[in-house]
Amino acid sequence: LASIEVDLSSIEEGQSVTVKWRGKPIFIRYRTPKDIEEAKAVDVATLIDPQTDEERTKPGKEQWLIQIGICTHLGCVPLGDAGDYDGWFCPCHGSHYDTAGRIRKGPAPLNLELPPYEFVSDTLIKIG
Ligand code: FES
Repeated sequence: LASIEVDLSSIEEGQSVTVKWRGKPIFIRYRTPKDIEEAKAVDVATLIDPQTDEERTKPGKEQWLIQIGICTHLGCVPLGDAGDYDGWFCPCHGSHYDTAGRIRKGPAPLNLELPPYEFVSDTLIKIG
């Protein structure tokens, strides 16, 4: 399928779900205020792949982080709620991603990629 719709209404704060889009895992995380606060507190200039938290989410929907769940190093699928930065950890070679999916430590060169998506309504997204 070129695009998929995902209903977010059953996902609870702090919870993550994975869906498939074009054969790839898509990580959907309903971030907590603490997740968002941590992501915003980072000095962007210190990042390996500098991106603000705002660039990682949609305006007014900052609680939703939607990313392609493939490590930007060599393509393993990172583990959620893991690593030194409360985000994702790739066990293949030890890449740590933060609560905005930005690479913070390890061999991965780039942040987790964001898929094209839009909010169809408050609780429905269309990916692709
Ligand atoms: Fe993730 Fe190498 S594939 S750290």
